[in-house]
Amino acid sequence: MNSLIVGNWKMHLNVTEAETLVRRLDMNVSSSQAEIVLSPSFVALSDVKKLLDELKLHTKFKLAAQNVNQHDEGAFTGEVSPNMLKGITQYVIVGHSERRIHFGETDDAIAQKIAACRRHKLKPILCVGENLQERKENLAVRTVLDQLSVDLSEITKTELKKLTIAYEPVWAIGTGEFAKPDQVEEMLRQIKLFLHEQYGEDSKEIRILYGGSVDEQNYASYMALSDVNGLLVGGASLNYKAFASICLGV
Ligand code: PGA
Repeated sequence: MNSLIVGNWKMHLNVTEAETLVRRLDMNVSSSQAEIVLSPSFVALSDVKKLLDELKLHTKFKLAAQNVNQHDEGAFTGEVSPNMLKGITQYVIVGHSERRIHFGETDDAIAQKIAACRRHKLKPILCVGENLQERKENLAVRTVLDQLSVDLSEITKTELKKLTIAYEPVWAIGTGEFAKPDQVEEMLRQIKLFLHEQYGEDSKEIRILYGGSVDEQNYASYMALSDVNGLLVGGASLNYKAFASICLGV
């Protein structure tokens, strides 16, 4: 399994800025062995896709949407359906903590979004993680496993290969406060045990990423953990030098 590095651009970069970043990355990550996935805003997605096709970069960079609606179509103003993403993105980030916190996304809705990905052959990158309060109260593992048990309720064994799970402690996202590798290691051990209980040996096909203030200084300490198959990078993915050095270093 090669490493998966996802750059979540969040609500940054207009179309021109997004295209500039792609061109800069292209010039700087040519020898990376990693599978690199970029996640621009919905507005920039199809332009970035066209640029990747034009520059023949579609094998070097794949695309992820930052969210998807669980319905195939309908009267849901402002939403984007999985059907609209087909042919543009391979991946979809589902259940990011910013969606859970700011837009009230529930685990039930996330489970439906994962089912929607399945119907439309999109690969979900499911984000889970505890907040600071939960960590302080020793509820971190319970919180994450509770999220997983609902979020994955619609997935079947045959789809595990397409699934990626990103452990992102909420207190480490965009805060510059990073999780210690041994905290990540322990959580990943628990996640792996849970997945093994649910799916047996097939659970080994699920990729697990770490995310939360990952940058070019600290990424190697997470990649050194045996259960980490890649990284979900936010802020540092907007800086082509930082993101390129992560992609080249893994
Ligand atoms: P960050 O974001 O790297 O800026 O902490 C990570 C994420 O939200 O996926």
